[in-house]
Amino acid sequence: MTLTAVHRRGAALLQAARVEGYALAAFNAVNLETAQAVVRAAEAQRAPVVLQFSENAARHGGLKVLIALGLSLKREAAVPVLLHFDHAETEASALEALNLGFDGVMLEGDDPQTLRRLSDAAHTRGGYFEAEYEVVAKGDRTGEQHDDPTDLARFARESGCDLLAVDIGSAHKQETKTAHLDFGRLERLAASTDLPLVLHGASGVPEDQLVRAAREGISKVNLATDLTQTFTAAVRAALDGGAKDPRAYLSAGRSSMQARAEHYIRLLGSAGRA
Ligand code: G3H
Ligand code: ZN
Repeated sequence: MTLTAVHRRGAALLQAARVEGYALAAFNAVNLETAQAVVRAAEAQRAPVVLQFSENAARHGGLKVLIALGLSLKREAAVPVLLHFDHAETEASALEALNLGFDGVMLEGDDPQTLRRLSDAAHTRGGYFEAEYEVVAKGDRTGEQHDDPTDLARFARESGCDLLAVDIGSAHKQETKTAHLDFGRLERLAASTDLPLVLHGASGVPEDQLVRAAREGISKVNLATDLTQTFTAAVRAALDGGAKDPRAYLSAGRSSMQARAEHYIRLLGSAGRA
């Protein structure tokens, strides 16, 4: 399969999830072991998956190193892996990610001209673009929900985007599952567009609500904090148990994160879809 063909499949995979009422798990990775955990989980569950690296992760590991890692894992993977640049903070970094070979990018911000330029750039390269219709609370960033969800159709049309991040009541980096999703709002949003909707900050969402959201219009579920906690707890236990070689304690983190990722893939209904 050529890289271009793989790219074109990105938006189509997410669109299929929307039509068929399940969601792709989109897991954030920061290094070799966390990225392997994501791909291994997807292979074990025969699921298409989104492997995400955020701009924050790129500051830590280097964007070129991360994309090289992602492309290598993708080429070897037995299932479709979409490489996604998550929470790009500038148009320039989003463009760089597309040029380096990411299948898709998400940009923080809603300047109409910027969104249109990035959509066009993604499409020219066979990729997809995720626009932030609403801001899911993250640090100092909070946004207002749009009162009239029919606004969404206009926003989607004008931005030219393929995926829409919406705020239905989750928040980033929640360590407990205490969110209450607004399903009435999700229904109105989903009725306003056929595009796949994206749930950010999914770690804080109770599992039964994730299952329902995936059935009712959310087609990409972003998960980071929960998986990070799982990875770190396993590393800590291995270190407490006397592990000294990084391969030993990082393997423990990787296995544990893989198991957790598999659990989410099953919950979201994407197991067996690859
Ligand atoms: O973009 C990534 C996420 O929205 C992950 O959020 O760390 O709260 O799971 P989370
Ligand atoms: Zn997010």
